[in-house]
This record gives sequence, C-alpha cells and structure tokens, in this order.
Amino acid sequence: MKDFLLFSGSSNQPLALAVAKLLGITLGKVELTRFADGEIRPWIQEDVRGKTVFVLESLSYPMDEHIMELSLLGDALGRSAPFNMVAVVPYMGYARQDKQHRFGEPVSARVIAKYIEISRYHEVIMVDLHNDAIVGFFEIPVVHLSALSRLADELKKQDLSNAVVISPDVGGVKRARNLAYLLDLPMVVMEKKRYLDRQDKTESMQIIGNVKGKTAIIIDDVISTGSTTANGARSLKDAGAARVIVAATHTVFAGDAVKNLKFAPIDEIIVADTILLPEKKILPNMKIVSIAPLVADAISSMVG
Ligand code: R5P
Repeated sequence: MKDFLLFSGSSNQPLALAVAKLLGITLGKVELTRFADGEIRPWIQEDVRGKTVFVLESLSYPMDEHIMELSLLGDALGRSAPFNMVAVVPYMGYARQDKQHRFGEPVSARVIAKYIEISRYHEVIMVDLHNDAIVGFFEIPVVHLSALSRLADELKKQDLSNAVVISPDVGGVKRARNLAYLLDLPMVVMEKKRYLDRQDKTESMQIIGNVKGKTAIIIDDVISTGSTTANGARSLKDAGAARVIVAATHTVFAGDAVKNLKFAPIDEIIVADTILLPEKKILPNMKIVSIAPLVADAISSMVG
C-alpha cells in the first residue's frame, strides 16, 4: 500500500473519522482557523511530500464556505509536493444546477467542477451525483460511488413482499430502476411539476403504476425542503399505498424540511451520512446508514 493521508474539512468530520477508522489510520493534522476578517486559513501540519493525500469535504450548507475550504486545502497541499491529490466530496452542492434552467442563469455544477480542478486535485470521489452527466464537467478522473447498495441493505431488513420502488419524478427513473433491481421489486413513476418562478416549490402530480395496498419505497438523491417527498407520500397514500418508506442519499434538509417530513404520512426514512445532520434534524422514524465503507474501499483501491 502506498503512503497516504486523509484530511478532513469541517463539513463532515464524523464521516471522515469513520473512514479513517476503517482504513486503520488517524486523520491528517490540519489547523482550520480564520483571519479576523473571516477569511479561511488552513494550515497543513503533516509532511505530505511524495504521498497520496485525500481531503474529505461535503459541499453542504454553508456550501460556499465548504467549497472555499476544499479549494484552500487543495492549494495548501498542492504546494507541499504530494504525489497525488484526491478530493472526496460525499455531497456535491450546486449539483442540481447542472443545466441552464433559464436563459441568464449559470451552469453552477460545472463551475464547482472547475473550482475543484484549479485547486490542484488530480482526482475526485463523488457519491450519487444528481445527474451522471456531471462527471463530464470534470477534466480529471471522477470515481462515482453510489449509496444505493447501503440503502438497499437497510431496506432488505423489512418485509418487502408487497413493495414497489417509486421514482418521485421522471429524472429519477434510472436511480429507482437500479434500486428496484437491487431489491428485485417492480417500479412506479410519479410525475412532478416544478415551478421555475417559485423556488423549491413542487407539487406531486400523476402516479404511473399501481400502488394500492403496497409498501411504496420513494427513492431520491436529495431531500432538500422535503416538498417532493412529502407531496409524494401524500399522493401515494391517497392512491391507496399501505405504507410509505423514503430512502435518499443526501439530507440537505433546508427550510421547513423537518416540519414537512414530520407531518407527511411517511412510515420510515432511510438516509445516508454524506451530509452531517444536526441532532435536532434527526426524526424518530429516521435511520442513517453510513457510506464510510464505500469511501474506505474506494481509497484502498486507489492506494493499494
Ligand atoms: C430533484 O430533481 C431532486 O432529485 C429532488 O427530488 C429534489 O431536489 C428534492 O427537493 P425538495 O426536497 O426541495 O423537494
């Protein structure tokens, strides 16, 4: 195994620690302070010359700060002559802005890709990107992991004899099909309407398929305001679903998400730990599965 070090930004240290533990290492020492004016000032306190270095940073809220931290950590490391530098980004903020939704708007996901590249990283590890095509925004190699297998393992602990996997929108069909394959279940699609002039507002529309009397498993990449999930759960119950389980990778949980999820007819929520969730946002019907084994395996195969 090549000499390597794993550093953590401030966004998700518990995940970084869990990955380090699985790899049998301790986290690389770095001091993360700020100047009096608020500027971030990372200081690497390890000799990284000739080593492969990994930096784990989720681009979650406050995403602009975490992007800056990842960039500055990259520049600091790059100036210390490592052999190889890998950004480990369990959640890519701005990924949902993967196209120009309206003329006059940016393609923000591409800008984030460029930020990572100019911050001296040679490779990047990502998890459940909103859109697979985002990989193409990078000129450097991207290892694209999926938490679906971890979510599926948790789902398999339940009675799924009369269950269907639900894609909450047409864009999520591929993800739902993959989960349906892992669970050996049929798939149903919902059609979601999104209002471009009203940010984050959605309304679940039509259900294409039969859910009557069944356990409906909604799978999504992101729960942001919880509007898609809550509206989806209500529509499924109205259509006769016996139970609704929600599975999702990234817990953005913005705005009224916790309230929306709490008051929706959802029996269970299974999510991953790509984003660090504060205690107050963890609901009693929520189970968090760790992606640490996936990241540790990816790191091992890169340094093995
Ligand atoms: C949309 O295309 C995504 O896959 C999610 O469905 C969406 O971002 C969830 O957002 P919210 O929780 O705000 O409805």
